[in-house]
Amino acid sequence: PRVAVVFGGRSSEHAISCVTAGSVLRAIVRERYDVVPVGIATDGRWVLESGDPERLAITSADALPAVDGSRATVALSQNSAGSELVVHEATSVPRTLGEVDVVFPLLHGPWGEDGTIQGLLEMAGVRYVGAGVLASAVGMDKHYMKIVFQAQGLPVLPYTVITPRAWETDKASCRESVSALGFPVFVKPCRGGSSIGISKVHDLAGLDAAVEAAREHDPKVLVESSAEGGREVECGVVQGFGANPPDVSVVAEIKIDGAHEFYDFAAKYLPEEQTELNVPANLPAHVAERVQTLSAQAFEALSCEGLARVDFFVLPDERVVINEINTMPGFTPSSMFPRMWAASGLEYPELVDRLIQLALQ
Ligand code: DAL
Ligand code: MG
Repeated sequence: PRVAVVFGGRSSEHAISCVTAGSVLRAIVRERYDVVPVGIATDGRWVLESGDPERLAITSADALPAVDGSRATVALSQNSAGSELVVHEATSVPRTLGEVDVVFPLLHGPWGEDGTIQGLLEMAGVRYVGAGVLASAVGMDKHYMKIVFQAQGLPVLPYTVITPRAWETDKASCRESVSALGFPVFVKPCRGGSSIGISKVHDLAGLDAAVEAAREHDPKVLVESSAEGGREVECGVVQGFGANPPDVSVVAEIKIDGAHEFYDFAAKYLPEEQTELNVPANLPAHVAERVQTLSAQAFEALSCEGLARVDFFVLPDERVVINEINTMPGFTPSSMFPRMWAASGLEYPELVDRLIQLALQ
């Protein structure tokens, strides 16, 4: 089969998507798949990429990878049966690159992980890896994600939402709702990822600046209680074939060093700041099982497909609460998702293969 690996994109997680794509392009089994690497430049243009994994790595904070926007653009159309996508390259003599059977949208954040590209692919009638339109959209929006989890009885931390109208017309009541949560709180853009735009706020005096920082990424802002003293753990979920239930990976723990207040962008990705990841986590068996059960429930609560990583806090009293779900988790070499699966017996190339096969089934 022919796989279009689509990466980069317009969101603030462009660089992470490139690194993810580099790892996937390196691991994809070339004897089984014919790969077409398609980059989305930060300005939204689709370009034919070289797909050279070496170019798509993070070496330092000042050297984040990006899609090469100088390359020839590509356009997509349907074949006459309306089922496969046809890739055309817009050089001076337009070239048809052929049909693709499945798209692997390795995109994080808005315009990629949020149902928008999934909608485009649905319209084009082409199969793709991962969650559909609704699950992607709900998984991207931390506000609606919480509403769906709560409606299904899944545990989340207390929160309040600051809408653009509320913030612009009545800051006093926004501050009141935040104070009612008690400090410290986390202030997050509702639709974002990789901790970009997130701050930890210790008192009311720090709130306005944090809200403004989050609003640079999304006009809608989520403020939630901090799980003080909690442990941060994650679990991978992969859809089962046919009518089989989803599989869950081992549970892993993130141990941030004292220099970082939380698992921020640098702690997540910069090679010089590598955070300690314990895979599997050293947790009592009943707690790890609770995390795994909740992971599968969270996956099904959103009607996810393909894959997801579910992030949790284990509170000092052993209560487990869901932080969030990611419908296209990072696949970088330092990322938890592939490492948790490797520790569960599913190595990176097999994981990538399974995700493609799930999309093709
Ligand atoms: N949003 C990042 C890529 C993650 O969830 O891993
Ligand atoms: Mg996320």
